[in-house]
Amino acid sequence: MAQVTLKDVTKIYDGDVLAVEQVDFQIPDESFTVLVGPSGCGKSTILRMIAGLEEITEGDIYIDDQRINDIPPKDRDIAMVFQNYALYPHMTVYKNMAFGLKLRKYPKKEIEQRVNEAAEILSISHLLNRKPKHLSGGERQRVAVGRAIVRHPKVFLFDEPLSNLDAKLRVQMRMEISRLHDRLNATIVYVTHDQVEAMTMGDQIVVLNEGEIQQIADPGTLYHKPANRFVGGFIGTPPMNFIETHIVNDSGAATLKFENFEMALDPRLQSVLNGVSGDSVTLGIRPEDIHIGLNGGNSVATQVELVEPLGNHALLYLRTDENSFVAQSDLIDVPHHNAPLTVSFNMDKAHLFHPETGNSLCL
Ligand SMILES: Nc1ncnc2c1ncn2[C@@H]1O[C@H](COP(=O)(O)OP(=O)(O)OP(=O)(O)O)[C@@H](O)[C@H]1O
Ligand SMILES: [Mg+2]
Repeated sequence: MAQVTLKDVTKIYDGDVLAVEQVDFQIPDESFTVLVGPSGCGKSTILRMIAGLEEITEGDIYIDDQRINDIPPKDRDIAMVFQNYALYPHMTVYKNMAFGLKLRKYPKKEIEQRVNEAAEILSISHLLNRKPKHLSGGERQRVAVGRAIVRHPKVFLFDEPLSNLDAKLRVQMRMEISRLHDRLNATIVYVTHDQVEAMTMGDQIVVLNEGEIQQIADPGTLYHKPANRFVGGFIGTPPMNFIETHIVNDSGAATLKFENFEMALDPRLQSVLNGVSGDSVTLGIRPEDIHIGLNGGNSVATQVELVEPLGNHALLYLRTDENSFVAQSDLIDVPHHNAPLTVSFNMDKAHLFHPETGNSLCL
């Protein structure tokens, strides 16, 4: 297996579309690295540059110590699984999986052994004689993965491989791909726009927006210490709430004011504010850190706009005169539409962001 390094990689399409800008990161050997970000942020472009399917405008990509910019795709020892599977419709599952090895002139016996082994890993041994149109979506997806496995590549690249599957099958395939990673000790680079997929599968997550890296971290760090407002809002469902506040420093201890509400700050956030110039700051608070009632102060009088009951909890869409935000409640008796509701912010869990740059002040 292998480590992949991207050094200041930039991609400009057709002379003027800046798709990826100065991306610089490492995919450690045997890691499960996820590239996540909204549509158009450059995920597929990065993956295709690693695979050699797209030219690199600037910068270098290495596999271990070898610079691969000019190495043709077939010599990179990388296998890619695409979103649309791209199976050959007229070939059986066996032939689909064997095809790449046959092209590379592997001995028949070796091909047979590798295909059977991969089929067993993926529980598709009983499907080897079928053609793709007689398979379910999940089975087709497994064949596409199998075609990559038989190659014994140094690096696996997955581009949104589960987006065509229904929700239940997605969860199942998610587990299977994670298991596959454990079993093959493979280096995997996995692209998705789904932050749940990213959080559940990745041990290293690269969050991208508009062609630039926003943060690289493990799932826990991304959630609890987002580097900026974008990451705070992208990771977590429903997303973090943001409220523009004024810093009030009347009585020695700073507080944050918005509309006619005033939030007290614990020593941690007090010391964060000591380093802030200017008199405003963006408060970030997650839905689960807004509680119903007067729990320990920092209360806000709101009106209920919408309640989304989700079985074991409910999402409350709340509004004040100038702000709206979402709270998560596990109350069974949820309030009604348009009812007044007092909630409290758990400021111990709050995040502060620079009002202009959006960078976290809490790191
Ligand atoms: N062949 C191309 N020519 C010109 N622009 C392109 C080309 N391919 C992609 N782009 C542009 O580059 C940017 C990044 O595209 P890319 O396909 O990498 O995004 P993505 O993050 O994979 O999005 P999605 O989640 O929708 O697949 C987009 O603005 C896109 O319009
Ligand atoms: Mg894409």
